[in-house]
Amino acid sequence: MTRDTAGVDQARGWIAAARKLFVLTGAGISAESGVPTFRDALTGLWSQFDPEDLATEAAFRRQPALVWQWYQHRRELVSAARPNPAHHALVTLAAQKPVTLVTQNIDGLHQLAGSQHVIELHGNLFANKWLDGCGRCHTVPPVPGEPPLCALCGAMMRPGVVWFGEDLPRVARYRADHAAENCDLCLVVGTSGLVYPAAALPGLAKEHGAKVIVVNTEPSALDATADLVIAAPAGACLPLLWPQAPAASSSSGSTKPSQAS
Ligand code: APR
Repeated sequence: MTRDTAGVDQARGWIAAARKLFVLTGAGISAESGVPTFRDALTGLWSQFDPEDLATEAAFRRQPALVWQWYQHRRELVSAARPNPAHHALVTLAAQKPVTLVTQNIDGLHQLAGSQHVIELHGNLFANKWLDGCGRCHTVPPVPGEPPLCALCGAMMRPGVVWFGEDLPRVARYRADHAAENCDLCLVVGTSGLVYPAAALPGLAKEHGAKVIVVNTEPSALDATADLVIAAPAGACLPLLWPQAPAASSSSGSTKPSQAS
C-alpha cells in the first residue's frame, strides 16, 4: 500500500487499464460542495438533539413533526449545494468506461452533476415514502411542518432515507455487491469506511481480484484494504485521475430528484 500524493500517476495508469470500475463515495466527496454531514447539521436549535432522536423509526413515530422538520432543515441546507469538480469528473469517467457508482450520500449531487444509474445505499433526502401505507396512499394537503398523511388510511409520509437500525434497500444492496464482485478496479472516495455494510464493499471487490484506490484527505478505515491511498481532497484529485472531456456534460439546469411516492 502506498500513501503518497504522487500516487496520482499510478492511479491514472490503473484507471486507464481498467475494464470495469466500481466507485464508492461518501460524505467527503460532497464536503467541497459545502454539504454538512448529519452531525454538522446539528446546529442552532437542533444542537440539543442526538442522531437517535432524529433518525430512527421509533423517533419518527414518537415525534413525527420534529423529525419531519429536521429533514426539511437538511433539505434546505443541501438545496444550496452544487456539484463540485469531483462529482463532474465521475460523469466524465462514465463516458469513457463502464462504471458502477455507489454512494452513501443522500444529497443527490451525483445525479445533479449528470451521473446516471447511481446506486444510493442510504436513500435520498429528496425522496419520501409511506410508513405502513395501504398501497393506494395519496396525500391530502399537508399541515405545514408536519408529515403529509394518506387521505385513505391515515399513514404518514416519511423521509426516504435509511435510518439507524434499518436494512439497506434490497435492490441497491444486491446491485452494489454484484458490481463490487465483478469490477477490476475499485475507487473509494471520501468515506471514513466505518459504516457497514457499505464499508465492506471495497473488501469484497479486493477478494474478487480488484485493485483498490482510496482518495481521502485523512486516514480512513479502508486504508488497510487499499493498494493505493491518495491523501488529497476529492475535488482537486479526481479530475487528475482520467482525461477530462473538453466540455464535460453537466445538467446544472436539472432539478433535484423528485419524490419517490
Ligand atoms: N475529499 C476527500 N475526502 C474527504 C474530504 C474531501 N474534500 N473531506 C472529508 N473527507 C473524508 C474524511 O476524512 C472522512 O474520512 O470524508 C470522510 C467522511 O466520513 P463520514 O463523515 O464518516 O462519512 P461517510 O463515510 O460517508 O459516512 C457513512 O455514516 O453518518 C452516516 O449515513 C451517514 O452515509 C453516512 C455514513
